[in-house]
Amino acid sequence: MKASFWFDKWQSREIAFHEGKVNQLLEKHVNELKLRPHAHIFVPLCGKTKDIAWLLKQGLHVTGAELSKTAIDELFDELEMTPKIEKIDKFEVYKSRHLTVFVGDFFELTTSHIQAVDAVYDRAAFIAMPRTMLQDYSCKLIELANNAPQLLIGYTYDQNLVAGPPFSVSQTKLVHYYGQEYKINQLEIIDSEDNIKGVAPAQEGCWLLYSSVD
Ligand SMILES: C[S@@+](CC[C@H](N)C(=O)[O-])C[C@H]1O[C@@H](n2cnc3c(N)ncnc32)[C@H](O)[C@@H]1O
Repeated sequence: MKASFWFDKWQSREIAFHEGKVNQLLEKHVNELKLRPHAHIFVPLCGKTKDIAWLLKQGLHVTGAELSKTAIDELFDELEMTPKIEKIDKFEVYKSRHLTVFVGDFFELTTSHIQAVDAVYDRAAFIAMPRTMLQDYSCKLIELANNAPQLLIGYTYDQNLVAGPPFSVSQTKLVHYYGQEYKINQLEIIDSEDNIKGVAPAQEGCWLLYSSVD
């Protein structure tokens, strides 16, 4: 998807992907990441997810990346935080206490921007990418994560019923894109409350990706 696709979604408020509450699979399985207090978790394509407030409440340090400035202005408003905003390379970087968000293109990020991370939380980021972008997305995330484990949450459904995004995720697809770097363990799969675009019944899956060099 081009950046303009996502800017249009935010501008026209077509943000059905935004949950408005903490993701239940995150709450249930975050311990699988075995994070120490104050660990640093990276949230790619973060939108204004309520999961960030929850991760901060767990005592974690959170770094997000998001194209839409609207999303991040709303995120900080909803958190009742006033960020300091500075320009770093192609990003506007919002910072307040233990939260930093890079507003700009995820693909322009480097490890010198986000620093070392202890874990990655991908909810609806992998599944936001069409097949033509998945190789670049997974390679960039592997580079940024540097072997840190990932908790990945996304929908599985019949892709013939509707066009993505979201694009359906499966164990096979994850093995294809991450199998060289990570062992991939499906932790749970549950029936989703909502049909995709009101049409396709879906399941929501949660996977742990952990380094195969450990
Ligand atoms: C499906 S939404 C998921 C948002 C969030 N993870 C959540 O669970 O609510 C995908 C988000 O990725 C953002 N996005 C898409 N491509 C991006 C890119 N190249 N760099 C940064 N953000 C991007 C979009 O603006 C959108 O907010």
